[in-house]
Amino acid sequence: MTKIFVLLLCLIFAASGFVNCSVVEREKIRIFQLKKGHLSLKVTNWGASILSLLLPDRNGKLGDVVLGYDSVKDYTNDSTYFGATVGRVANRIGGAQFTLNGTHYKLVANEGNNTLHGGARGFSDVLWKVERYQNEGPNPSITFSYHSVDGEEGFPGDVIVTVSYILTGKNQLVILMKGKALNKPTPVNLANHAYWNLGGHNSGNILNEVVQIFGSQITVVDSKLIPTGKFASVKGTAYDFLKPQIIGSRINQLAETKGYDINYVLDGEKGKKTKLAAIVQDKKSGRVLELYTNAPGLQFYTGNYVKDLKGKGGYVYNSHAGLCLETQAFPDSVNHPNFPSTIVTPRKPYKHYMFFKFSTKTQY
Ligand SMILES: *[C@@H]1O[C@H](CO)[C@@H](O)[C@H](O)[C@H]1NC(C)=O
Ligand SMILES: *[C@@H]1O[C@H](CO)[C@@H](O)[C@H](O)[C@H]1NC(C)=O
Ligand SMILES: *[C@@H]1O[C@H](CO)[C@@H](O)[C@H](O)[C@H]1NC(C)=O
Ligand SMILES: *[C@@H]1O[C@H](CO)[C@@H](O)[C@H](O)[C@H]1NC(C)=O
Repeated sequence: MTKIFVLLLCLIFAASGFVNCSVVEREKIRIFQLKKGHLSLKVTNWGASILSLLLPDRNGKLGDVVLGYDSVKDYTNDSTYFGATVGRVANRIGGAQFTLNGTHYKLVANEGNNTLHGGARGFSDVLWKVERYQNEGPNPSITFSYHSVDGEEGFPGDVIVTVSYILTGKNQLVILMKGKALNKPTPVNLANHAYWNLGGHNSGNILNEVVQIFGSQITVVDSKLIPTGKFASVKGTAYDFLKPQIIGSRINQLAETKGYDINYVLDGEKGKKTKLAAIVQDKKSGRVLELYTNAPGLQFYTGNYVKDLKGKGGYVYNSHAGLCLETQAFPDSVNHPNFPSTIVTPRKPYKHYMFFKFSTKTQY
């Protein structure tokens, strides 16, 4: 109630030039830290975003392995989605529209004629509420929530989503995303958009890192990166990471997109919900990341369009400074009946989890 009142006051006064609503909003942006053993994670309620993750290398030296900005305020003017939770529907929706149960919905187009990561003001560009913050005990955690209203960016119905960050075990990070439709069926597909660089955010590019992706197929896309509805085998292509490969070894074959920006169909094991999605290794630091998920897909993006971005400590990020492992449903699922459904209803909630296991290897 008070929040609505303050916002209302703000809007009234803003019209007369007395106050600036974006400043009022910014004052509530906060930073939270979770620590367990050698692992140290910083997150913010702006976009339920990851700000930093400190990890030891093979000699025990800590390094920050995600790209980001110096000040949390910089995240409010970000167009790269650094560390953010993206939604209501991550990735692209072709033509910024879809039809659901006979009703046609027109969305906000924010990338040409298409919708990217939820529209002009997606879940990465809003303040989330802090539901629970516990930086003590065996599993330090924080849970953010966001109530997206009916019609927001064109999507149908009210939705409440939560994102939890949990440190657990030995050097493990769990991200748990949940969603509930309150009144109408709606597509929901959340993803975490952290840019990883296991060598350290300021170590240069990720082209020498070794990646394995456990997907034998990709969803084929057109020139605007919208799925055609077809699948293609990775066999014999630059997309084949079934065996560990150096990222830069074949990236020049993908000139049109300046690198990898593609959704993999995760293979998984029959009858098992949790799938091994990807393994990333950095030989120099010895750091290794293993990612497990229950999502059907993984968008592999090599930060192709990052250019001259002033990041933490004044370090300037350029193309391929980091890589994204966005586990999620397939892009544009809402327009492809042959893709697994992303429709969430009041009776059918949404749940997506990611387990990140970090370790070091002493030898290669
Ligand atoms: C509000 O403040 C922000 C940041 O200080 C500034 O960029 C923006 O132009 C201001 N808006 C108005 C209407 O004064
Ligand atoms: C916001 O970001 C744009 C580039 O995306 C940059 O040109 C502009 O200077 C930034 N504004 C502020 C206030 O930092
Ligand atoms: C579609 O609409 C019908 C009639 O309004 C309704 O009974 C049904 O539950 C709806 N289906 C979904 C998936 O919402
Ligand atoms: C958007 O669609 C219109 C009509 O099909 C087309 O003329 C235009 O080139 C498209 N714009 C972009 C940026 O793709």
